[in-house]
Amino acid sequence: MFLPPSFLDTLRDKIPLSTLIGKKVKLTRRGHEYTGLCPFHKEKTASFTINDEKGFYHCFGCGAHGDIFTYLVEAEKMPFMEAVEHLASMAGVKMPEVSPDQKRMESERTGMTAIMEEACRFFQNQLFGLGGVRAKNYLIKRGISGNVAKQFRLGYAPNGSALTQHLEAKGFDLKQCQKLGLVAKSQDGTRFHDYFYDRVMFPILDRRKRVIGFGGRMMEKGEPKYLNSPETALFHKGEQLYALPHAIDTIRKENRAILVEGYMDVIALHSAGFTGAVAPLGTALTENQIKILWQSCDEPLICFDGDGAGRKASLRALYRALPILTAGKSLRFVSLPDPYDPDDMIRKKSPEAFRQVLAESQTLADLLWQDLRATYPVDTPERQALFEKKVNETISKIQDAGVRAYYQNDFKNRIWRLFHTKNKTHKPPKTQPIHTPVQGVQDIRMMLAYVISYPEIGEAFLDDLSAIRIPDKSLKTLLGDISVLMTEQADITPDELKEALGENTISDLKLELEMVQKSAKTDDEVRHILSCMMTESKRKILEAEIHEKTDSYFKNPSPEVWESIKVLKKEIEKLCESE
Ligand code: UTP
Ligand code: MN
Repeated sequence: MFLPPSFLDTLRDKIPLSTLIGKKVKLTRRGHEYTGLCPFHKEKTASFTINDEKGFYHCFGCGAHGDIFTYLVEAEKMPFMEAVEHLASMAGVKMPEVSPDQKRMESERTGMTAIMEEACRFFQNQLFGLGGVRAKNYLIKRGISGNVAKQFRLGYAPNGSALTQHLEAKGFDLKQCQKLGLVAKSQDGTRFHDYFYDRVMFPILDRRKRVIGFGGRMMEKGEPKYLNSPETALFHKGEQLYALPHAIDTIRKENRAILVEGYMDVIALHSAGFTGAVAPLGTALTENQIKILWQSCDEPLICFDGDGAGRKASLRALYRALPILTAGKSLRFVSLPDPYDPDDMIRKKSPEAFRQVLAESQTLADLLWQDLRATYPVDTPERQALFEKKVNETISKIQDAGVRAYYQNDFKNRIWRLFHTKNKTHKPPKTQPIHTPVQGVQDIRMMLAYVISYPEIGEAFLDDLSAIRIPDKSLKTLLGDISVLMTEQADITPDELKEALGENTISDLKLELEMVQKSAKTDDEVRHILSCMMTESKRKILEAEIHEKTDSYFKNPSPEVWESIKVLKKEIEKLCESE
């Protein structure tokens, strides 16, 4: 039965989750949220939280996540419709009237799902029957165990028209089966025959594990390597992801999805323990698919093949995601060695090697920058201007005003650094793992080197520098010493300063001091560099703090932490405005 979303919303509004779950679980109030022992897994300390305002629960222990409906379906094992009826009577509202059209559509859908289920069982039986020996050997050769084959309901579509005969014998309408892409009309239009033959079958399941389509792989070389179900009333490729029902719990629990290109990649990864792997269905990644992943994690990892085609597909995904980025939601990109795909990485290298490349994933902003740099040279002023224009055009595609502003700021800094450090020995630091304040510290080291080398100019920045929360003790001490020395002797020279600070202290900044020395600058340039670096490192340090706080908030939600995050965010906004 079709239920209008507005009806479900009404129920969500009328029944606070805490009231519903509070009937079974002892809850404690904590600010805007409730916590209690998770009803989805065994635990001794409460990691289950409920937010009535947002209408969802989340367990930080097992990753269970949902609303009033999923709670009844998953915790109390109620069929969905029964859950809706139960909640409607609890809220004292009448169930919506069902139109005859809706009734017909609903029963048609149930009928279609039954046919797909029958076909899936048929293929599975074939794989484990006599005719399936070749297919079974093929799977073994590709390292797929019997258990994994069962888990993913793999099957075999035999030669001839066995499925057509089977479905007909079961009394299914073959015209209906044709609409589902299981059987096709013969050329002369007189008979039906199978759509898939002699292929290893990968059923595609929707979120509720109903079979909605198939992909079939040829075992020998030939075209097409994979044949997929056509678009049908049940199967919309752009709105589904292969293996999502298998991966969803892990994706939520790890806050990480691994998006790969192919069926075989997904299966190889799940077998090796990377159970958050999913794939699009033989078509380019769609906006819809990205949004589906964002419902369950913040930064899905795009892990396409290491060949040219895979890299192109990654960029395509990047430009597809760009307009729809929102606060906290992005993609990360994994680059596999050419020409490996994830399946090869696992089998020819090792799961450990794969874990390693995942750990080295790149942010969307970094890959975007890399692509723009590779596309537009900046070796003349005119080309520099063009580069900047293209950067701005690209960033203007981001629809979310907040994200766009941060991108503008970030890329402005990148451009500035690029044009000011060109032809110098200073190379941009290798991308650090995200969310560590290391880059912020690196900036502070550079700033201190400038201050020591240009004390007259540096003096004006000392107050600002001391106001930064520097996460490194020895740098903090060094800054304190510099301040003292400079107040004691207003016209101190760089050499006097270095001597007073002592060889040991200075040697810690050796590299930075050399870099500053090698690139002789005018006073104005130094002033400009210092003020840009100052803003940049303030921003980075704030971001790192926000990240840390957000982590701790999610582990242990409290209004105080939330407030402090808000304050930090305001500080960042102020920084960006002042520029
Ligand atoms: P690949 O050619 O990379 O296949 O296509 P694969 O996943 O590595 O498979 P194996 O390891 O050779 O068996 C990636 C995905 O593109 C789609 C399929 O979804 C496939 O998994 N595809 C590929 C098709 O739909 N049709 C094709 O003919 C080829
Ligand atoms: Mn591949």
